[in-house]
Amino acid sequence: MRDAQPKAIQLADYRAPAYEVTDTHLRFELHDGYTLVHSNLSLKQNGDETELLLNGQDLELISIKLDGKLLSEADYTTAEEALILSGLGASHTLEMTTRIYPEKNTALEGLYRSGGMYCTQCEAEGFRRITYYPDRPDVMSVFTTEIIADAARYPVLLSNGNPVSEKIEDGKKHVVWHDPHKKPAYLFALVAGDLQVRDDHFTTCSGREVLLRIFVEPQNVDKTEYALDALKRSMRWDEEVYGREYDLDIFMIVAVDDFNMGAMENKGLNIFNSSCVLANPATATDAAYQRIEAIVAHEYFHNWSGNRVTCRDWFQLSLKEGFTVFRDAGFSADMNSATVKRIEDATMLRTVQFAEDGGPMAHPVQPDSYIEISNFYTVTIYEKGAEVVGMLHKILGEEGFRKGSDLYFERHDGQAVTINEFVQAMEDANDVDLTQFRLWYKQSGTPVVEVLTQYDHAAERLTLNLRQYTPDTPGQTDKKPLWIPVQLGLIGHDGEDMEVRPDQPDFWTEDSQVLHFREAEQTFSFGGVVEEPVVSLFRDFSAPVRIHYQHSQSALRFMLQHDSDGFNRWDAGQQLMLHWIELAEKGRFKFTQDDIDALHTVINDVELDPAMVAYLLALPSESYIAESRPQYDPVAIHKAREQVMAALADTLSDDFKACYQRLNVSGDYQPVPEDMARRSLKNLALSYWAKADAEGVEAARLQFSSADNMTDQMAALRTLVAHGNQAEAEQALAEFYTQWQQDSLVVNQWLTVQCGSSKLGTPAHIRQLLEHEAFDWRNPNKVRSVIGAFANQALCHFHGADGEGYKLLADAVTRLNESNPQIASRLLTPLTRWKRLVPNQSQMMKSELQRIMDHGSLSKDVYEVVSKSLM
Ligand code: ARG
Ligand code: ZN
Repeated sequence: MRDAQPKAIQLADYRAPAYEVTDTHLRFELHDGYTLVHSNLSLKQNGDETELLLNGQDLELISIKLDGKLLSEADYTTAEEALILSGLGASHTLEMTTRIYPEKNTALEGLYRSGGMYCTQCEAEGFRRITYYPDRPDVMSVFTTEIIADAARYPVLLSNGNPVSEKIEDGKKHVVWHDPHKKPAYLFALVAGDLQVRDDHFTTCSGREVLLRIFVEPQNVDKTEYALDALKRSMRWDEEVYGREYDLDIFMIVAVDDFNMGAMENKGLNIFNSSCVLANPATATDAAYQRIEAIVAHEYFHNWSGNRVTCRDWFQLSLKEGFTVFRDAGFSADMNSATVKRIEDATMLRTVQFAEDGGPMAHPVQPDSYIEISNFYTVTIYEKGAEVVGMLHKILGEEGFRKGSDLYFERHDGQAVTINEFVQAMEDANDVDLTQFRLWYKQSGTPVVEVLTQYDHAAERLTLNLRQYTPDTPGQTDKKPLWIPVQLGLIGHDGEDMEVRPDQPDFWTEDSQVLHFREAEQTFSFGGVVEEPVVSLFRDFSAPVRIHYQHSQSALRFMLQHDSDGFNRWDAGQQLMLHWIELAEKGRFKFTQDDIDALHTVINDVELDPAMVAYLLALPSESYIAESRPQYDPVAIHKAREQVMAALADTLSDDFKACYQRLNVSGDYQPVPEDMARRSLKNLALSYWAKADAEGVEAARLQFSSADNMTDQMAALRTLVAHGNQAEAEQALAEFYTQWQQDSLVVNQWLTVQCGSSKLGTPAHIRQLLEHEAFDWRNPNKVRSVIGAFANQALCHFHGADGEGYKLLADAVTRLNESNPQIASRLLTPLTRWKRLVPNQSQMMKSELQRIMDHGSLSKDVYEVVSKSLM
């Protein structure tokens, strides 16, 4: 909690650390109620600066010794959350003892308790809650960690690196870990508990044996197999695709129930939110399996992109996160359908990231200021950051990109570097000038590309006129033109791609079919175009931009059926659907025969990947529709979308029924791509069928009670909640709870289904669930499952006319502000969008923000978001 207004940290103020910590020795004594942390740091001066700043937060300093001599309060100064030693020399030994209270740590940063275990979360600035330390990523040290705890209750004691020794004395267990790789404090980790382990092995490309271990609470041992499998596949993939080999003899994963984020890449000891690592067929959906695969890979890939090469400061966060998301997306694309993965990622970007760009927290991929760094673990840093790396990949090609990443890892191994050094490596390896490209890191906001095409039949020429601009964002105006890769196709009337030959060859990369659009306005021309083509722009979502181009309805239907680029095929369908929903809102929607024919072709295309068919037939989400408009009315959007959904369900109900029956085959559940694809289409068909027809609801009822896997059971439950009558929905929910109340991760899904439902997710129902035995304010997953699902998914209720939804969210934020500021601040996001809502809603949202502001004693996290939102 703060008293004065918190100050913003500026990138421009960066200064190299005065002292390095060459060695860090830590000893943890875990006692009931408190923990003692002894540290012994070897300090080495960097330049001529003689002042050492140690960060520290909520610490009780018990003793401090410099070169063996006990210091008194006169020997150092204390500032807000820091301790400063001045007049130091070239090298010193500093020893400190601090007392901390993990039991009372509800912020879940630093050392805290989750259930019966101890664990840590140190990124970004959690280590300073453990001991005084230069808690900044450019201070890298070799860590040795001793842990002492009650041997009976904490038989498993873990830290980074390799185990060195272990003994039991007077009922206390002592273990020592040593990590030979120097690392910043944010990668430190400690775990203590009564955990079960499941082991496996991996042989690296150079023939080294690595022990793989997953630690979980005893009841979860049967949920560890898939993560281990995903881990081994990730390790192999990183060797094959990036030439990166693992570098310790042991790699550990620990599952923790109370965790603010998804997971954390601590060196050799990854800690996971249990929802992102634990799965078995009965309890986890296909979507959960895919998330686990992606996150296990993500954290593993950080071993190189993040740990071996880390960030100089937190303004460079996307250096490791953007690149690592790009890497895990490549992995998921290779393991599953690349097109489907691209559709999912683009959807995420266009709904969530574009919304962030259009709101008060808009920031560049490399921000230049922040108040609380935890607020910058955003879709812009992660997902847009990954898109920017992806554009480099498109521009340089597969081989050029690999040359660049090889050079980057080789040149900067063991260093803490900047985004600029990443781009520099790409430049040097490929002999290109990426000066203009760097703007993608510095400019915030979503660029808009306006497209005009003209076809001259007599001359057989196509002209393509492109204009770009990036709207102003808070603190940033007058943006410059970006280097935008436009992957392009021209489709002939036979549905085949025509040859693309621009008259400006310098702006065209043949291999990747990419047009380099680099000026505010640029005109490209194409000769030898014998018939008027359908222009397929930004194939594979080649740049994170908004495209303004009006395809005709018939061109969209044509692309939906023929575009060789799967992404644009899907996107054409989405544009058609958006158009239908707009018409519905104006009371003028009716299917044309052409629409129906196009949909028929899609649903009956048995050659196509069923997962792709499912996406082609799914309506854009309400938030996606909202994000496509400058101002929106969520209730109107909901009604219009429902109308189109009903029409689609009715029109194709026989097809959906047949599709469901064709794909509803029995057999053992397996989390493999083909089966997941089949289940996704089957369950989409079930939901449309149930929307149209009581017979479909009956099928859902049957599937619900006979399913042997959570994918099918959950899909049936969702369908019953959405399309069954109230009694059917309530009965299914009650049965589900009775069946699964012992399994907290399944109960979270049960909460989400209700809270995110446009039928059940009313503020009154949410308030009831907040009192339910299954709810717990201290557990972030529970908070997300109830309040997060409500505010982000049940849009028609969250934005209900009486403003009760906003009030509920503001109450929750105020309540969590003190106990868990990170979660409080994250929950706030939907309220920050107030300027985009229709006036009535907008006003009510703003007054709730004001109410939070007036509450006073706000955490830095909440203060930053609320104050920026009210500006
Ligand atoms: N580095 C972690 C990841 O991307 C995320 C940690 C975020 N922690 C936080 N307190 N914001 O996997
Ligand atoms: Zn990450």
